[in-house]
Amino acid sequence: ADYQYILVEREERVGIITLNRPKELNALNNQLVSELADALESFDRDSTIGCIVVTGAGEKAFAAGADIKEMADKSPIEMMEGNFRSWERIKRTRTPVIAAVGGYALGGGCELAMHFDMIVASENARFGQPEIALGIIPGAGGTQRLARVLGKYRTMEMVLTGAHISAQEMAQHGLVNRVVPKGEHLKAALELAHKVAEQAPVAARLAKESVLAAFETSLEEGLEIERKNFFLLFSTEDMREGTRAFVEKRKAQFQGR
Ligand code: HXC
Repeated sequence: ADYQYILVEREERVGIITLNRPKELNALNNQLVSELADALESFDRDSTIGCIVVTGAGEKAFAAGADIKEMADKSPIEMMEGNFRSWERIKRTRTPVIAAVGGYALGGGCELAMHFDMIVASENARFGQPEIALGIIPGAGGTQRLARVLGKYRTMEMVLTGAHISAQEMAQHGLVNRVVPKGEHLKAALELAHKVAEQAPVAARLAKESVLAAFETSLEEGLEIERKNFFLLFSTEDMREGTRAFVEKRKAQFQGR
C-alpha cells in the first residue's frame, strides 16, 4: 500500500511501522492515524506476522500528539467524524504490538503508546497529557488508561498540569516495560518483538485478548474468557507440537494453526 505519513516494513515475523512526520514531531493528523490503522489491520491479516513494533521517525519524538494545527478550527462533529474511527480500529488489533518510544510521547502520542501491549522507551523519552494547556482534555483514552495503570492521584496530576514524566518514572509505575539508552529503543523493542513472534501465533493473540479482558470485565468474566481461550487452544496443531516438542526435548516449530 502507498502511505504518505508512515513507513511499513518487516523483519522476519515482525512488522515495523514508523510514524513518519519527523519535522512535525510525528504529530498525528487524521490521515496518519488512518494509515496506521490500515497498516495494523493489514499486518493483522498476515498470519506470518507474529508481533508488530510501532515507532516514531527521528530522535525527538514518538509522537507529540494530535496535530494541533489541523485540530484548531474543528467543530465537535468534525472531530467525531474525523479520526476517531481509526482509533477504534487501532484498538482492535489482535496481534501483539510494542511501542518503541524515543523522545516525546505526548497527548495523542502517549495515548497511542497506551493502545499497545508493551512499551519500550529510551532514557530521554517523555510521557505526558498536555491537552489541558490547549483548553481540552485527552480524547483517545488518556484519562482512562493512565488511571488504570498509575491510579487516581498521579493521573490527576498529569492530566491537570500537563507535566512531562520521564521514562524512568513511568517504568517505576509500571507504564514502561524497559528503559534503554538513548537511540536504542527500536533495537530493544525489536528484540522483544522477535521473542513474541517466535511463540505460537494463535496462543499469542488469545493471550493478548485474555489480558486485555482484565481491563474490561469483572474478575469472574475475565476468568471465564481466559478459561475458554485456554480450552480453545487445545484445538490447535501448535498446542500438540508445543507439548510434543517439550517431551522430545527439541524446539517447537509453530505453524499458526
Ligand atoms: C502540530 C506540532 C505538534 C503537534 C510539535 N509540532 N508538536 N505540530 N501538532 N502536536 C511542530 C511544531 O509546531 C514545530 O513546527 C515542530 O513540530 C517542532 O516543534 P517545536 O515546538 O519547535 O519543538 P520543541 O521546542 O523542541 O518542543 C517540543 C514539544 C512541543 C515540547 C513537544 O512541540 C510541544 O509542546 N508540542 C505540543 C504537544 C501537545 O500539546 N500535544 C497534545 C496535542 S492535543 P513549526 O513548523 O511550527 O516549527 C492531543 C489530543 C489528542 O494530542 C486527542 C486524541 C486524538
